Amino acid sequence: MKGQLVIRSLTAAYGSSRVLHDMNLSVNVGEIAALLGANGAGKTSTLRAISGMLSRQGCIEFNGRRIDQLSTEEVARLGVGHVPDGRGTFGALSVLENLQLGAIRRSDKVGINGDMSRIFDYFPVLFDRRTQQAGTLSGGEQQMLAVGRALMARPSLLLLDEPSFGLAPLVVRDLFLIFRRLNKEQGLSILLVEQNAHLALDLADQAFLLETGRIVFSGSAEAIQRNDSIRRAYLGN
Ligand SMILES: Nc1ncnc2c1ncn2[C@@H]1O[C@H](COP(=O)(O)OP(=O)(O)OP(=O)(O)O)[C@@H](O)[C@H]1O
Ligand SMILES: [Mg+2]
Repeated sequence: MKGQLVIRSLTAAYGSSRVLHDMNLSVNVGEIAALLGANGAGKTSTLRAISGMLSRQGCIEFNGRRIDQLSTEEVARLGVGHVPDGRGTFGALSVLENLQLGAIRRSDKVGINGDMSRIFDYFPVLFDRRTQQAGTLSGGEQQMLAVGRALMARPSLLLLDEPSFGLAPLVVRDLFLIFRRLNKEQGLSILLVEQNAHLALDLADQAFLLETGRIVFSGSAEAIQRNDSIRRAYLGN
């Protein structure tokens, strides 16, 4: 399979404090990969390093092109969508305005309109609430908006940082079904950060376990689910 995102010997630091150490990780075209680990393991930092929000060293290739020297803006323009933890929607703006902001770097009006209606097909509730202020949406709706906004930039890889955080189980189930559909129907690759390992492993093709900034295990999601000692050591049962 073709590596869409290939990370080799990545290190990253906040100032002088190094938080990622010699990481190797890859996501294949059309694949869902899960990045798992305890609080503080470095999951958010990994996504931030990929997106260029954190100073990093090493090699990050996206669609065969080095992106580790590029700015956040340039990485996004090449097709990496990032839905940060805490969602980051603009609360004072409407749903529609938030979605339009996602397409701010695009000028293909027809394509933008087409993508907007596709997003409303996936998330009908966003259409129902299109004039509502984003800050007044429920947590689940805000997460959907955050994903929708990222999709408006037409990414081929989506980085999702704990999309299930704070949401009721039924809402999470619906959201994850949509992630699966986006992957299958649109060919969207996903790198998913999750605390809920079972949820993530059910969705993912392969998974990486991160411990204090180091990948300690990688393999197919199925293999990790079957591995009792890994499960006990890292996934809490
Ligand atoms: N802005 C920052 N400045 C300095 N250190 C930071 C900063 N943000 C995170 N860190 C440190 O980097 C390490 C990794 O944090 P990170 O947020 O990537 O972990 P995480 O796996 O996403 O955790 P969580 O599950 O709690 O979201 C932690 O030790 C954290 O204290
Ligand atoms: Mg985090």
